[in-house]
Amino acid sequence: MLNILFVCLGNICRSPSAEAVMKKVVSDAQLNSKIFIDSAGILDYHEGEQADRRMQTHAVKRGYDLTSISRPVLPEDFTRFDYIVAMDEDNVSALKSFNVDSVLKNKIVKMTSFNGDSYNYNSVPDPYYGGPEGFELVLDLLEDACKNFLDHLVRNNPELK
Ligand code: 4NP
Repeated sequence: MLNILFVCLGNICRSPSAEAVMKKVVSDAQLNSKIFIDSAGILDYHEGEQADRRMQTHAVKRGYDLTSISRPVLPEDFTRFDYIVAMDEDNVSALKSFNVDSVLKNKIVKMTSFNGDSYNYNSVPDPYYGGPEGFELVLDLLEDACKNFLDHLVRNNPELK
């Protein structure tokens, strides 16, 4: 089993969406039994909450049901997961500051490193304080990056072939 954790600040907008989009991409590729997907937040401020209503509304329009419940990243996530996928540079810095073996931090990657040529973004921008277009951009970036991320996983993990 390959274990993937998506991380953002609050775990109520970007990473729950990444989780849902990636689950769809993985399911379409019939790899559900081989890839486990979860999400978590740098903050514990929203712990126990469902995804942000606005994010849910935009996601549902594209066929995604955001079912995850917010939880903070834990030190043991660095051993439990094979890939820790951060939404922006602040998330990367926060993850790097965890008190875990530095080798485990090689698991941290940025979601936008998988975006194709149509998107020139170095982060998935935080939509929390902005308007509807920010939530749409989150989904656009995630749909593009998750497809390419799965291709990357298949190329680099023989057990998925
Ligand atoms: P997320 O968005 O990191 O994409 O879940 C945010 C959610 C909540 C807050 C910030 C960003 N907040 O400050 O409460």
